[in-house]
Amino acid sequence: MVIIALDFENKEKTFEFLKKFNEPLYVKVGMELFYAEGPLIIKEIKALGHKIFLDLKAHDIPNTVKKAMSNLAKLDVDIINVHASGGIKMMKAALEGLRENNSKAYLIAVTQLTSTDKEMMNDELLIQGDVIECVKKYALNAKAAGLNGVVCSPLEVEAIKMVCGKDFITVTPGIRPLDSSVDDQKRITSPKEAKKIGCDYIVVGRPITKAEDPVQAYRKIREDFLN
Ligand code: C5P
Repeated sequence: MVIIALDFENKEKTFEFLKKFNEPLYVKVGMELFYAEGPLIIKEIKALGHKIFLDLKAHDIPNTVKKAMSNLAKLDVDIINVHASGGIKMMKAALEGLRENNSKAYLIAVTQLTSTDKEMMNDELLIQGDVIECVKKYALNAKAAGLNGVVCSPLEVEAIKMVCGKDFITVTPGIRPLDSSVDDQKRITSPKEAKKIGCDYIVVGRPITKAEDPVQAYRKIREDFLN
């Protein structure tokens, strides 16, 4: 599945983009758009028939995250996430909050952000070892809490599937078609390669949203990923 990152500053720009497509899409709404427009934007995107990954990366004490998820459950999105660094108790609370309001959304966890490198992790966060070891442990914690999967780099998918099993979902940004600009992504993977690696969902933003013909760019990426 290809998820388009709707990294737009407001509703007008978002709908101007969505209007180019006349097929149901899977889209990601992140903090920028959600904080600008509020929960109503989710209802409006859903009304167009699109599926939604709500990427708000909740991270707080368990009780607060549970209540936040309970409220977000009413939006009836398809994927939603928390930070695994909040711990197993927080992740369990998030799941309880979602389910008590009957959300069937996949709950996934961010392990280490791809903007975090070994040096920062060791020296600033005081987490020793390699990033991949931390990512595997956080993925295992997410699994232990009953979550459905993780957001991760495509380069971490194999290791995560090894420890958490192949049904544990991986949602991966950092995807670039071979002919596309790299932007600020450091370690990138093509859609074809992502498929080979075993990524379940790829998140693609600028290669589609900034393309001259976004519909064609989306179709090409989808074709590359599915075949
Ligand atoms: O435009 P681009 O394809 O780089 O967009 C990728 C999307 O995935 C953005 O919304 C970005 O915030 C998000 N993301 C990421 N790397 C992570 C987590 C999320 O690029 N580790």
